[in-house]
Amino acid sequence: MRLCWLLLTLLLWLPPLPGMAARDDIPNCLGCHTVSADVAVHAVFQTVHGGLGGGGNGSCAGCHGASEEHARNPAAAMPGISFGPRWQSPAEARTDACLGCHSGGSPLHWVGSEHQREGMACDSCHDSHRQQDPALSDSGSQQACLSCHSRVQAELLLPSRHPIAEGKTACGDCHNPHGSLGDASLHQASVSDNCLQCHQDKRGPFLWEHPPASEDCALCHRPHGAVHDRLLTARGPALCQQCHVAAFHPGLPYGAEGLAGGSGNQNVLGKNCLNCHSQVHGSNHPSGARLTR
Ligand code: HEC
Ligand code: HEC
Ligand code: HEC
Ligand code: HEC
Ligand code: HEC
Ligand code: HEC
Ligand code: HEC
Ligand code: HEC
Ligand code: HEC
Ligand code: HEC
Repeated sequence: MRLCWLLLTLLLWLPPLPGMAARDDIPNCLGCHTVSADVAVHAVFQTVHGGLGGGGNGSCAGCHGASEEHARNPAAAMPGISFGPRWQSPAEARTDACLGCHSGGSPLHWVGSEHQREGMACDSCHDSHRQQDPALSDSGSQQACLSCHSRVQAELLLPSRHPIAEGKTACGDCHNPHGSLGDASLHQASVSDNCLQCHQDKRGPFLWEHPPASEDCALCHRPHGAVHDRLLTARGPALCQQCHVAAFHPGLPYGAEGLAGGSGNQNVLGKNCLNCHSQVHGSNHPSGARLTR
């Protein structure tokens, strides 16, 4: 340990190498980007990024590159990497600047994600020169998401909906905006895994499974909002009859061969299947084979 300190002190005392000496004549970024000239720039020091890079030009270089030409002649040369407004580097270069430090964690699957393929970059959502990056608050990020996803915005206003506009769930609870290995950039591998994360009571195994419920919740539910109650894709008998075709018992008038016991129950006609088959997600009742209890 002592030896380490000794070596470190020695290193600091050594004269700079020839290559490093040249850095001294690079003007300081903040010499021109003063508080009065560029208020926003200085807010970076109130974020986690402000302390990185060792101060001076190093604080800027992580994202903007060394930018030596620019610092010497700002009228003619752009910074190594610019996010605009005047010289905007291509999306890939802007993204690489961030991925240099953020290739793991939440943005791990950025490359290949839908957003990346659409030509977006990290700064499409993140604002690194704001004390509070708006992408990191639920309301700020939702505003950004909905500015592009107008169809989802409309779904959030439908009569039956997940309480997203009400602030009880957020886009980020279900989606990773940086992409994921799952469907639709969900945090989980599949839609059902996503739903079961919060609706644990619907997770089987049940004694009597209803195959579609164990297969894919989206066969009957919409994730954001729906016209029909309980986020359902269709109403009443129509929902069930997509699979249990009309020729089946409830969709037709009943004859003597109708329900169990041979009762010709006309009341079944047009009734919601759920009146009797209430355990549509599966049943654990010993005699729940028909999902009636
Ligand atoms: C000698 C003064 C000066 C120095 C030193 C300087 N800049 Fe600039 N910079 C400017 C001026 C002037 C502009 C505005 C250019 C324009 O819009 O015409 C600018 C613009 C920028 C922009 C915005 C680019 C764009 O596309 O709009 C960035 C980013 C930037 N500078 C970063 C840096 C970094 C990083 C450093 C330090 C390595 C630095 N600057 C050093 C004067 C300077
Ligand atoms: C964490 C990455 C990061 C760091 C560190 C950083 N910037 Fe930026 N800079 C950005 C991004 C991203 C933008 C695009 C606008 C935004 O998101 O605020 C930007 C925009 C700018 C602009 C253009 C502002 C405008 O809209 O007119 C200037 C000038 C600038 N940065 C200078 C600097 C200087 C000087 C430093 C060092 C003190 C620095 N930046 C440090 C990421 C960074
Ligand atoms: C020099 C390395 C470095 C670069 C370059 C860099 N970051 Fe970071 N960033 C960090 C570190 C370190 C943290 C704090 C620890 C963490 O959350 O991983 C951080 C945190 C963050 C956070 C979370 C902030 C918070 O308050 O919790 C966001 C968002 C972020 N960075 C976005 C970006 C974006 C966008 C860019 C490119 C414009 C970028 N970073 C470039 C190192 C970097
Ligand atoms: C479509 C908008 C969007 C884009 C594009 C985007 N982000 Fe994010 N990012 C977010 C949101 C929203 C959050 C808030 C946390 C969450 O929901 O995952 C976030 C959070 C983060 C965090 C903090 C993660 C944590 O665990 O605290 C980092 C770091 C980050 N982003 C880096 C990046 C980098 C690097 C890129 C570019 C490769 C990028 N982001 C592109 C929206 C975006
Ligand atoms: C600049 C516009 C823009 C912003 C901002 C934006 N998106 Fe997207 N997003 C797109 C485009 C374009 C697509 C691809 C076409 C589509 O599916 O609509 C897409 C696709 C998606 C997908 C489908 C991904 C897949 O793998 O199938 C999800 C989920 C998504 N975005 C969520 C979000 C979330 C959450 C946010 C906010 C954090 C957000 N988006 C912000 C433009 C945007
Ligand atoms: C409760 C979980 C959940 C929440 C919260 C949520 N989503 Fe989704 N989203 C999903 C699921 C599940 C899918 C996949 C649907 C499918 O494949 O059938 C999806 C699909 C998408 C898609 C791609 C397909 C489409 O419908 O266009 C986009 C874009 C999207 N969501 C954006 C958003 C945005 C923006 C928000 C926040 C306003 C959000 N989502 C909130 C679960 C959610
Ligand atoms: C992040 C947690 C979360 C995830 C993931 C989630 N939900 Fe929900 N869900 C909720 C909350 C919170 C409510 C509102 C409960 C309340 O108001 O009592 C809700 C309510 C519902 C309702 C009842 C709506 C009503 O009108 O009463 C249905 C149906 C539903 N979710 C289905 C799903 C499906 C299908 C998925 C998967 C696509 C899913 N949920 C994923 C949190 C979640
Ligand atoms: C075969 C169609 C179908 C499938 C598949 C399905 N559901 Fe449902 N779900 C319904 C119906 C119908 C209702 C309304 C029940 C009622 O009103 O009594 C409902 C209601 C709900 C509710 C709100 C009422 C409650 O019981 O809490 C939630 C939450 C829910 N489903 C979650 C899920 C999840 C999670 C999955 C996937 C594991 C799923 N559903 C798969 C048909 C289905
Ligand atoms: C996506 C297709 C699909 C939808 C929608 C669907 N089911 Fe099913 N259902 C099935 C399948 C597949 C079986 C298993 C059939 C078998 O085992 O022969 C089944 C079995 C059943 C059974 C048990 C039958 C038996 O033979 O054991 C009942 C009762 C039932 N469904 C009622 C409903 C009701 C009520 C609805 C509407 C809320 C509904 N189903 C919606 C596909 C569906
Ligand atoms: C009035 C109550 C009632 C209503 C309403 C009702 N069912 Fe049934 N259903 C039953 C009973 C009781 C059985 C059990 C018959 C048996 O055990 O043989 C049954 C059996 C079934 C079976 C299994 C048939 C088989 O061959 O084993 C399916 C599938 C089914 N119903 C679907 C539906 C659908 C779809 C609807 C709505 C369109 C519906 N039911 C409406 C009472 C009802």
